[in-house]
Amino acid sequence: MLSREDNDLLTRIGPGTPMGELLRRFWLPALLASELPEPDGPPVRLPLLGERLVAFRDTDGQVGVLDEFCAHRGTSLFFGRNEAGGLRCVYHGWKYDVAGRCVDVPSEPAGSSLREKIRLRSYPVRERGGLVWVYLGPPERAPGLPEFEWLQVPAPHRRVSKWIQETSYLSGLEGEVDSAHFSFLHRWFDPSQLPMPLQRQGLSWRDPAPRLTVHETDYGFVYGSRRQVGAEGYYWRVNQWLLPTHSMTASPEPLLGGRAWVPIDDATTWTFAYSYHPDRPLTEEEVSRIESGFFFPPRLIPGTFRPAANRDNDYGLDRARQRATNFSGIWGVNNEDRAVQESAGPIPDRSREHLAASDRAVITARRTLLRLVRQLQDGIEPALPHRPDCYAVRPFDVVDAEEDFERLIETHRDRIVLRPARAT
Ligand code: FES
Ligand SMILES: [Fe+2]
Repeated sequence: MLSREDNDLLTRIGPGTPMGELLRRFWLPALLASELPEPDGPPVRLPLLGERLVAFRDTDGQVGVLDEFCAHRGTSLFFGRNEAGGLRCVYHGWKYDVAGRCVDVPSEPAGSSLREKIRLRSYPVRERGGLVWVYLGPPERAPGLPEFEWLQVPAPHRRVSKWIQETSYLSGLEGEVDSAHFSFLHRWFDPSQLPMPLQRQGLSWRDPAPRLTVHETDYGFVYGSRRQVGAEGYYWRVNQWLLPTHSMTASPEPLLGGRAWVPIDDATTWTFAYSYHPDRPLTEEEVSRIESGFFFPPRLIPGTFRPAANRDNDYGLDRARQRATNFSGIWGVNNEDRAVQESAGPIPDRSREHLAASDRAVITARRTLLRLVRQLQDGIEPALPHRPDCYAVRPFDVVDAEEDFERLIETHRDRIVLRPARAT
C-alpha cells in the first residue's frame, strides 16, 4: 500500500507539484512527428503535465511548443494561422515564432515597440525517433536526450505510436513492471489461436506464480521474472524500467520494444509505444502486425488518439469469449491492460491495496520515484538526466537452467547493456 499522502505526491504532476518538478527534469515524448507533417501545416493542441500548450511546425520545418493562449487576451493559438515563420493569433493578428518571441503586432500603430516586451512561454524541442520531445524544466538544467537504441536506428527500422490512457501515468507504469499479470490477464487457452505469435511469452501461462527479482541500476532497475517451465529449466523475462516513466519489456522476437507514459494531467496519460529492429527495416508483415491493434498500439477511433475499445463499450468484453478463448474475454493486449487499469479509477486509492510478493517491482518503482521526489524537494537534483548513455539497454527473455537472477544477467550482460555507461 501507499499512504494517501504518498499517492498524492506521486500522482499530482501539474506545475509546481513535487512530482511535476521531477518529471520536468527529463526530456519527455510529447507528440508524434507525423502530427506535424509539413511546414506551415495546422498547429495541434498539446496538453501536457497539466499545462495547455500548442505545437506547430514553422516555414523552416522547426517545431515550436508554446503556451496555447495568446499573450494579448488569451485566445487559443490552436485557431491560429501558421504562416511565414510563426503562428498568428486570429483575434488581432499578433504573431509568435517557435521561441515564443512576438514578431508582429499589426493591431498597434506603426512604430510601436510593444512587441519587444511580449514573450510567450515556450519550451525546448527535439525531434528524434519519429517523436517530438519537449523539455519543460529549468532551462539552465536542460539535459541531453536519452540514448535509447530505438532513437538511433534509421526510420524504416522503427514504428512509433501513441494513444490516450484514462488514468494517471502511475497506473500504466505499474502495469508495465508487473510481470505476474501476464500469466492471467493476457492468457489464451489455446495459444495456437492467437492472432500473432507470442512464442516464448506463451510459456508464462505454464507457471502462474513467477518469482520476481529486482536489480536496481543508475537508470531505474532491470528485473527478472522466473517461471518454472519443466525440464528445460526456467522461462526468464528480463525487463527494464527507466526513469522517469519508460519501460522495455521482452517482445515477440525478433523485434524489440517499449513504452513511455507521459501525463496529460493528473488523470489522463499519453502512452507512447515503439517497436524496432536494431539491424534492418521492419518487414511488411511486422508492420501489419503492429498496425493490427492486437498488441501496441490498440486500434484507435479514426482521427483521434482514443482507443476504440474503451470504458464506454467495456473494452469489447465478450463473456462467451471469456469462457472459451482467453482469460479476460477482451481482444488485444493493450485493450486488456487499459481495461484493468482504468477500471480501478484514474487515481486508485493505493492506501487500500494489499500488496504481495508479485508486486516487488511495483514497490521498487514507487520507492525510487518517492526518493527522487523527496530529494528534489530538498534541493538535490537527479543525476540521471545528465547521463543519457544509461538508456542504451535492452530487455530480453530466455529459457535457461540458471536459477539465480544476478548470475543470469551477468551471463547475458551483452544482451542487456549495449555499451558500458560512463561513471558519474
Ligand atoms: S487575443 Fe491574440 S491577438 Fe488579440
Ligand atoms: Fe499487460
